[in-house]
Amino acid sequence: MAEPLKRRDFIKKTSLGLAGFTLLTAMPSKVVASDRIRIAHIGIGGMGRNHIQWFSDLPEVEIVALCDLDEDHLASGLKLTQKMQPGRKVTGYGDFRRILERKDIDAITCATPDHWHAQIAIMAFQSGKDVYGEKPLSYDVHEGKQMLKNLTDHNRIFQLGTQIHAGENYHRSVEIIRSGILGRIHTVRLWKNGLSPGLGFPEPVTPPETLNWDMWLGTAPEVPYVPERCHRTYRYFLDYSGGVYADFWCHIADIVFWSLQPEGLKRITSRGESPQGIADAPEWIDVDFEFNDLNIYWTTQPPDIPGAAQRSIGAYFEGENGTLICDYESREININNRIVHDIPEIDQMLERSPGHQQNFLESIKSRSQPESNLAYVRKMTLPMHLGLISWRLNRSLNWDDEKESFIGDEEANRLLARKGRKKWILI
Ligand SMILES: NC(=O)c1ccc[n+]([C@@H]2O[C@H](COP(=O)([O-])OP(=O)(O)OC[C@H]3O[C@@H](n4cnc5c(N)ncnc54)[C@H](O)[C@@H]3O)[C@@H](O)[C@H]2O)c1
Repeated sequence: MAEPLKRRDFIKKTSLGLAGFTLLTAMPSKVVASDRIRIAHIGIGGMGRNHIQWFSDLPEVEIVALCDLDEDHLASGLKLTQKMQPGRKVTGYGDFRRILERKDIDAITCATPDHWHAQIAIMAFQSGKDVYGEKPLSYDVHEGKQMLKNLTDHNRIFQLGTQIHAGENYHRSVEIIRSGILGRIHTVRLWKNGLSPGLGFPEPVTPPETLNWDMWLGTAPEVPYVPERCHRTYRYFLDYSGGVYADFWCHIADIVFWSLQPEGLKRITSRGESPQGIADAPEWIDVDFEFNDLNIYWTTQPPDIPGAAQRSIGAYFEGENGTLICDYESREININNRIVHDIPEIDQMLERSPGHQQNFLESIKSRSQPESNLAYVRKMTLPMHLGLISWRLNRSLNWDDEKESFIGDEEANRLLARKGRKKWILI
């Protein structure tokens, strides 16, 4: 397990200071206490607030703790939790390690920026907690591997926050694609339009007293505080994430990996440009992925095919006998120039989800992995990282799928794992 926190001043500012944030009263509940799943939410920004709302709506859940290293975010999260589950006790922390030390917590959710996902999940597994973790799975390829190893070693449950997976449209699209009605599928086109911004050239300023900037940076390089690097827009910096591409990849690549389970990735070729400004994630990026029997093309602009321009994100499956285009909520199937939304003759083969968060709770109880489990989402996330590496190096890369390494390219292999700042390597 992790070593104890060394920064005394931070402890003073957070754990002690935040003791005053503990909210306490007793309230009768429909579900008896022993049946409840006790959850802590870590990272209470935009998505963390959704986690509070989603999980507090589930009768089996009791939210017992929150953590954020920004005191303002934590305080407003505590207020929201109190509103959502009035009268129940919830304690706020500035350091997630204090949550992992508690023996009375069953599971955590993690909605921090991407560069913290792996360490928090791994340490949670090591402390016997199950994890609902936000996408993308990890900051780099190596972290994803370590997450899977620790999940297995510690016999834990993990669900990735790809909530679109649970919807009817993806389930039905997978059934149609797998039925074979489109013939052999040789090509899939994925897109998400919208450029990653450069964010101008703002000067560094002193971080707010209420924010632990050093911990926010974690294993990422130490840099002076610029607000644009931090909350919400961190995703446009390669030190923490990978722009619009990394943000949306797994929501739409999910439908391809679920329906076709592509194997034998061989070659990755990226093109793109950097934005003007301090942010350095690709402004736009197009990536060609060559698998054994399938080509997947990611583009920033929708491809020139009917129905794509109307969808800001989408997947287009090209088979020998027909095509299927879909986004999160809709789909069109084209067979012999006849466009339909469904093919009723195809049986329902997949069990429907009880809801993405509920599916996680049921997995906690049954000890069987949920729909967006770690082994699956790691395979689905890996090509995204490789596309970014090809973009960074501005060259095509040959990949050995068995060894999970680039062939004859040590510079590219070094980018599979970041050498993080030692001070914040906690595992
Ligand atoms: N599933 C989805 O559809 C979806 C949508 C939006 C965001 N997300 C994901 O959620 C995550 C958060 O995104 P966001 O938009 O909410 O970002 P955000 O910047 O609004 O929030 C992140 C929060 O985490 C806190 N934080 C950072 N490091 C921490 C640490 N070590 N311990 C505790 N708190 C820490 C920050 O202070 C901040 O409050 C990202 O990984 C993002 O990809 C998923």
